[in-house]
Amino acid sequence: MAEDLATLQIEALEALDQAADDRALEAWRAGYLGRSGRLTRVLRSLGSIPAEERRAAGAAANKAKTGLEAALAQKEDSLRQAALERDLAEGAFDVTLPGKPVAIGRLHPVTQTVREICDAFVAMGFSVVEGPEVELDYYNFEALNIPREHPARDMWDTIWVSPEGPMAENPILLRTHTSPMQVRVMEQTRPPVRVVVPGKVYRYEATDATHESMFYQIEGLAVDEGISMADLKGTLYDLARRLFGEERRIRFRCDYFPFVEPGVDMSIDCFNCKGAGCRTCKNSGWIEILGAGMVHPDVLRRVGYDPDVYTGFAFGMGPERIAMLRHGIDDIRLFYSNDLRFLKQF
Ligand code: FA5
Repeated sequence: MAEDLATLQIEALEALDQAADDRALEAWRAGYLGRSGRLTRVLRSLGSIPAEERRAAGAAANKAKTGLEAALAQKEDSLRQAALERDLAEGAFDVTLPGKPVAIGRLHPVTQTVREICDAFVAMGFSVVEGPEVELDYYNFEALNIPREHPARDMWDTIWVSPEGPMAENPILLRTHTSPMQVRVMEQTRPPVRVVVPGKVYRYEATDATHESMFYQIEGLAVDEGISMADLKGTLYDLARRLFGEERRIRFRCDYFPFVEPGVDMSIDCFNCKGAGCRTCKNSGWIEILGAGMVHPDVLRRVGYDPDVYTGFAFGMGPERIAMLRHGIDDIRLFYSNDLRFLKQF
């Protein structure tokens, strides 16, 4: 019996050595370890040998079985490894190898700020609408009380689309602010109106730390019976507290825009110098973030609203300036210079 086992083991290991693929391995397993395999048969025959030899023979047969099973597992491993190496050498695609890292994108800091501001207004009951960037002179200026020869046109250095500029019969321009949407929205709806309008605007501007020639604005408009300057201030204070926290200082000053009366601007104390004066705030200690006021009765009348019944407030804010104040960015031009080292920080 001992001799039989030894021969069987030697033969089995030689045969295993010859097996070159999965099919040969399976045939080998069935031939030696399967239900009617050679080693299984030896194990079954243990019952017929004399009792005094059975114990030693049983131990030897079990040891042989464990040895052959281990040899089979090892052979399977080495065939798998050889197959992988062959695939790699032949250029086959190995899905188990780690891939190249994919850079994960993110929202631009100005987009993040615009969305956050719009969300705050939606929570206050405003709707979000958008309008055209290529605009008619009528909506950008005329309907906002700024006729062709009005000196206030100098407040918005304009990029004209019409080759004849403002002298064209029906002049077209890149909108210089989002205020034309006040008129477009009121033409389409009846009060009560509560909208915010985010979007890009363009100015023929000498750029500096707080001025870009393409930037965003968010326009706000609320028209209803009995709306007052207190509603305007309350709404803007609420927004400023949400965005900047309780400790920042806010300043309203009189300002002039032909389409509001009275008009104001709102500033926040400079994050950089805390009001002492620096390059970012042009030594004023304040950064202006929006213009606002009560909608001018003539603007209301032009869209068919009766100014004796309805009043409204409007504002136009610069989200880049707001993002600068919140993140401590000292130059607006960083936003659109496409430097990933800057953009990846947000
Ligand atoms: C206007 O554009 C008015 N349409 C705002 C308004 C709306 C007033 C409704 C009254 C009622 P102004 O030119 O000041 O106003 O611009 C508004 C805001 O846009 C500024 O407070 C500032 O935050 C931002 N802004 C203006 N010019 C630039 C610029 N060149 N670069 C970046 N942000 C700017």
